[in-house]
Amino acid sequence: MERVYIFDTTLRDGEQSPGASMDAASKLQMALQLERLGVDVIEAGFPIASQQEYESVKRIAETVKKCKVAALARALEKDIERAASALEKAVSPVLHTFIASSPIHMEHKLRMSPEQVLDAAGNAVRLAKKRIPRVEFSAEDATRSEWDFLVRLTRVAIEAGADVINLPDTVGYTTPDEIREMFRYVIAGVSDLLQDRDVIFSTHNHNDLGLAVANALAAVNGGARQIECTVNGIGERAGNTSLEEVVMAMKIRNDVYPYYTEIHTREIVPSSAMLSKLTGLTVPYNKPIVGRNAFAHESGIHQHGVIANARTYEIMTSESVGRNRSELVLGKHSGRAGLSKRCAELGYVLTEAEVDKLYERFIALADKKKEVYDDDLHLLILGVQQGATNVYELEQLSTSGHDPSMALVKLRRGDQLFCDSAVGDGPVHAACMAIERITQISGRLEEFEIRANTPGKEAMGEAHVVVRIGDRDYRGTGASTDIIEASVLAYLNAINKYLVLSESQNGNAKNGH
Ligand code: KIV
Ligand code: ZN
Repeated sequence: MERVYIFDTTLRDGEQSPGASMDAASKLQMALQLERLGVDVIEAGFPIASQQEYESVKRIAETVKKCKVAALARALEKDIERAASALEKAVSPVLHTFIASSPIHMEHKLRMSPEQVLDAAGNAVRLAKKRIPRVEFSAEDATRSEWDFLVRLTRVAIEAGADVINLPDTVGYTTPDEIREMFRYVIAGVSDLLQDRDVIFSTHNHNDLGLAVANALAAVNGGARQIECTVNGIGERAGNTSLEEVVMAMKIRNDVYPYYTEIHTREIVPSSAMLSKLTGLTVPYNKPIVGRNAFAHESGIHQHGVIANARTYEIMTSESVGRNRSELVLGKHSGRAGLSKRCAELGYVLTEAEVDKLYERFIALADKKKEVYDDDLHLLILGVQQGATNVYELEQLSTSGHDPSMALVKLRRGDQLFCDSAVGDGPVHAACMAIERITQISGRLEEFEIRANTPGKEAMGEAHVVVRIGDRDYRGTGASTDIIEASVLAYLNAINKYLVLSESQNGNAKNGH
């Protein structure tokens, strides 16, 4: 059986999902979970995008040891230098440089002739190769490019030293038959260069027509041996190839796809849950493998069959993807050690100070609700980690009355305390107005969702908001057993994200496409 390498781009392309932005601490947390999941490459980000992004890639590169860490750069000297600098301390760095190859992108976006694109690609790969031993080259919008031009471009990149050639379906346009043939054609066109070189072909697919997983598998049949994908399939527009789906498709239908990966499949559901909490992007109930209903059987006939023999209606066990692992419940007698152990099992790496803070909040929660579930823990941890990066922290909230309501809000910024009050249509509105008076940031609430994260009357309320500030949306998450407080925390989290970003931005555009 041949190996297919898994290149995870959750933290780069995935983070380009509208509203999926994560702060540096969350990205590091997720990177460590991806390491446990066993991906081969973690694409940590696009360092030229902002100072914050650069720092975050650098931190991941310094911390992650078991996987390769990649950073993205356009085929420009300043991008490549920045990416190389962020990767300096990585054990196994990959510099990923790209330029568009389709007529429409060359003419309208790059305003470059095909010859200029060939030159730029060769120069970029040569420069990248001088700085970092392993280089991936991507021909952006490959699936809408002329195949003969792709062959020429691939030859240039390989001759310049590229170790990986990626032919992305940037706009999610291709079909399985077409992409398989494209890979066959390009690989055949450069076969003479592959005699004495170890070059891997990679596939990177977007899901605009819902074909990303099928296209990735077809590309593998055409000769690709690396799949670029994201946890929960998050990514630009309709998302990328979903890691869990493509990995499990190769595992379950190994008769059709005789390839293996080194993914520890029991880490799939924990990875999905962590990402969903960190980004606030919920997983659809019917999402294959990781959706809440993926192993639920509603009809009597199915239930009867599953009780008699699970394989009647299940093609894989829920344990094999790590679902039932998270049933363990903690209570207030579990102790600090038990709590810390459970967090580690869930993939979190916490400092002693964070565990102390978490323990305090855990005991407070366990006092209110007897059983603390993994979903509660995810939220408590998120709250502690948000506290480390938040500009403003909620110190006190009191509300009274309904329509109009009155709210009194006390916020902490470093050593300073700020207090203000406001009137609004309801308690959440009033509190948001008070926050606006203190922070002087006016945001428009675009989306607001609140749900119970675990069963039971005392469940924590998990609030998700999208707040528009200027021309950008900021996603915020908050959790509390009091739903008004959860909502206000979520709003404040979005404001904090805006502040962190605007304070660190160096004016560069954040987009790899
Ligand atoms: O979709 C795409 O083409 C990309 C490249 C930058 C690899 O994300
Ligand atoms: Zn992409």
